Amino acid sequence: MTSRLRVDNYLDADYFDRALRSDVLAGLQLSPKKLPPKWFYDDRGSELFEQITRLDEYYPTEAERSILRTYASDIARASGADTLVELGSGAADKTRVLLDGLSQTGQLERFVPFDVSEGILRSSSRDLLEEYPELTICGVVGDFEHHLGKIPTEGKKLTALLGGTVGNFDPDLRRRFLHEIVAGMTPGDSFLLGTDLVKDIDRLELAYNDPSGITAEFNKNVLHVLNDRVAANFDPDQFEHYAKFDTDNEWIDIRLRSLTDQDVRVAELDLDIHFAEGEFLHTEISAKFRKEKVAAEVAEVGLELTEWWTDERGDYALSLSVLK
Ligand SMILES: C[S@@+](CC[C@H](N)C(=O)[O-])C[C@H]1O[C@@H](n2cnc3c(N)ncnc32)[C@H](O)[C@@H]1O
Repeated sequence: MTSRLRVDNYLDADYFDRALRSDVLAGLQLSPKKLPPKWFYDDRGSELFEQITRLDEYYPTEAERSILRTYASDIARASGADTLVELGSGAADKTRVLLDGLSQTGQLERFVPFDVSEGILRSSSRDLLEEYPELTICGVVGDFEHHLGKIPTEGKKLTALLGGTVGNFDPDLRRRFLHEIVAGMTPGDSFLLGTDLVKDIDRLELAYNDPSGITAEFNKNVLHVLNDRVAANFDPDQFEHYAKFDTDNEWIDIRLRSLTDQDVRVAELDLDIHFAEGEFLHTEISAKFRKEKVAAEVAEVGLELTEWWTDERGDYALSLSVLK
């Protein structure tokens, strides 16, 4: 089975440590303080995210799955792809619906999962190899910021970015990210994008403030990662989760708020950081979209939006675009 699995890891311990140190050093000295969301996802963070996807309040996962179930065959036919590339594949759970659609066309050859978290990429790949005996998997453990160019180029590709992951980028970074994704595509290749849609604020905010506190735990996981990887001494109980809809930018703004006036030491960086009571550490945004915005943003990087599908409630959209 192993000959059908290759995993290239571009995040050796050195890269990982250097990138984390530079983000921590820069981000904790900014005003307001800020850390990139990729540092949520160690093995514990990936597991917490999986738990979030099973929460009743977190509607995007089921909405996206229902669209995939209804349109997987259309996606497979329209793309004509033999290779599925999934960016930020995580547990690759909904991926199965797409793989089923592609297998039915008889074209499916390979799956290329790309994720920053090696643990979850390897475990999901092992499961998929058992479930799809004809499939070859070429996994890439990398960072969207630096390693998209390492994605294997073989095959006619359908590149999927699901789970609303695109919404975690601010508009400038998103433009750059989309541009780099397209740079790895060949004319005729397709891009499948999952975007959460603008809707009622109460439902949006509840999705990020579940009463069971899993999202809060996920948000605070970045503090555990800093404690483990750069010998910081954050006390996660001294911070609270904050998630509110920013109506101007149409994104959920996710932060941690310091509950007290406190000092934190990051021993490996010889860095002492002060948090005033009530001060925020910005950890993530989750942008919400409208069709016109998605069509305009993909057009800007040379893609043509050809299909737009939503779930029954109109909560979430999957769009298919083609590189001209
Ligand atoms: C919002 S989750 C979506 C997971 C899955 N695609 C889904 O739909 O449920 C984002 C995924 O992207 C990965 N990720 C986040 N930042 C990344 C980065 N900078 N480079 C590579 N992967 C990243 C995370 O590990 C996680 O699996």
